[in-house]
Amino acid sequence: MTAIIRLPQPNSPEWVASMDPGGVFDQWHDVCREWAAPESFPADQSDFAKDGFEKRTFLDPTEAENLQAHIEAASLVPENVKATGEYQDTVREESSEYLFGLLEKILNDDVSDRIKSYFQSEFFAHWFQFARAYPHPNPSDSFLWHRDGGPGAFVNIMVYLNPTEEHGGNTHFLDIETTAKLAHAGYEFPNVAERVGDLGPLAEKAGARYAPFITNVNAGEGLIFKAREVLHRGVLPTTGPRYVVFVNLMPSYRPWREGFERWPMNFMEIVAGNWTTDYIQALAGDDGPTVIG
Ligand SMILES: [Fe+2]
Repeated sequence: MTAIIRLPQPNSPEWVASMDPGGVFDQWHDVCREWAAPESFPADQSDFAKDGFEKRTFLDPTEAENLQAHIEAASLVPENVKATGEYQDTVREESSEYLFGLLEKILNDDVSDRIKSYFQSEFFAHWFQFARAYPHPNPSDSFLWHRDGGPGAFVNIMVYLNPTEEHGGNTHFLDIETTAKLAHAGYEFPNVAERVGDLGPLAEKAGARYAPFITNVNAGEGLIFKAREVLHRGVLPTTGPRYVVFVNLMPSYRPWREGFERWPMNFMEIVAGNWTTDYIQALAGDDGPTVIG
């Protein structure tokens, strides 16, 4: 392989734009595509491919219940708990073996095929979170309509560990087509203060069909979605804590199981959401694409 990634000067305008089209991330993705045999990922006819999101069963109810108990137990150690807002926190997982076993279940063949077909490359688990959300009277942030910022192509999975009927929480989605129409009408990546909970009036003006996908989920069910391409909003729980596992997937030139051994999970937290020279070089490794800094 002769693929090369050229890194811009750190802190240059090109560097700041590293997630934009043609930026460093796109170079990385191109290389990952080159690395893959083109015929290895057949076309995907799923709702995930068409609409940008899909409800699936990731764990059976007992597995979900066990994981919730596991998270509860870990949360008894105060250092493992990190507040991520007034009404949300995350619980740290210390065992790589445990995490690997969990990812083996969540990233089953069907799910992996969808992700590979979308990226046209292999993928790796970039970060994960065990997240708890609690009832609160004034939801904001992710609980209003938004698209996630970040590079051009990434995938999020959220697995609910307890059912909607237990906590009243949920996640609503608008499909790729509606999201594109609303973006055209001005609602693209609104900052937190500009986010709204009802896009009905704007959709009407934009000639878009406003029919959010709303479904109750059982323990172990969840959504796989293109978080940058579809508008989504969390619905805060009303009657008890909501337990969710988030997994973020990004393009890779090696399969995720190998990536898991080689690359530290939750790297994004370490680099605070920025792609650094070190990061790209660590991902490329000695046998991967050539990185010129
Ligand atoms: Fe989001």
